[in-house]
Amino acid sequence: AGPDEGKTLVAANLAIVMEQAGREVILLDADLRRPRVHRLFRQTDHTSLAEVLLGDCERWPCALMPTALERLMTVPAGCPPPNPSELLGARRMREFIQFLTQRGDIVIIDSPPLLPVTDALVLAPEVDGVLLVVRHGHTHLKSAQLALTQLQQAGARVLGVVLNQVPIGQRSYGYHYGYYYRSYYTDNSPDDRGGGAGRGNGSGRGHSRGHGREGSSGATTHRPDGRSVSRAPAPDRA
Ligand SMILES: Nc1ncnc2c1ncn2[C@@H]1O[C@H](COP(=O)(O)OP(=O)(O)O)[C@@H](O)[C@H]1O
Ligand SMILES: [Mg+2]
Repeated sequence: AGPDEGKTLVAANLAIVMEQAGREVILLDADLRRPRVHRLFRQTDHTSLAEVLLGDCERWPCALMPTALERLMTVPAGCPPPNPSELLGARRMREFIQFLTQRGDIVIIDSPPLLPVTDALVLAPEVDGVLLVVRHGHTHLKSAQLALTQLQQAGARVLGVVLNQVPIGQRSYGYHYGYYYRSYYTDNSPDDRGGGAGRGNGSGRGHSRGHGREGSSGATTHRPDGRSVSRAPAPDRA
């Protein structure tokens, strides 16, 4: 919804996870005002989205930049142009997205914040789905609601909301929720009641695994530059 909520980090992590699952992924940095993807992947000068939108389509293939990961490519945003909303809403942007969808299995677009500027809103109807990122203790409920309403009015398909940077290891909302959730699925589950085979019986009930405190964190941490990081909420890493 707003700045610094973790949109870029979530988009990059999603791209990495999908790459690791064997998909050909393209991560497009569409934040023409505050480009960050190139920093996360430690990329240098390259043909960018800004040049694509201002130039001719012969250069489109040059905008795809390889990363350290075999099946992941990025398109950096480039130097901020004077009119980002106008460029992102133009037909050329739609055509470029189409071009990217032919080049990869999945195109993930890292967008600018929704509320201060219209950039993301003009993109929303052009994509198959939108993930809204909100940050624990930072995003106001009203802002999140407004963002959702705006997306729906723009005709976007909202896939879900990512609650980012939930504090872990404290007696906070996250702690109690995790505890309650875990006990709900283990202590009181039908499996347990029906003879105690509950956990680890291979019944394929995916929801009985991975919940609790561990499952509630936004800090699933793959670093785009290839280093993996342990679970604790990390300091600034852009
Ligand atoms: N789950 C997280 N844990 C730790 N740091 C995070 C997390 N999500 C985001 N950050 C950090 O917060 C800052 C803003 O994140 P970023 O993804 O650039 O936000 P946005 O794209 O919404 O402006 C960055 O320094 C980033 O590394
Ligand atoms: Mg960002």
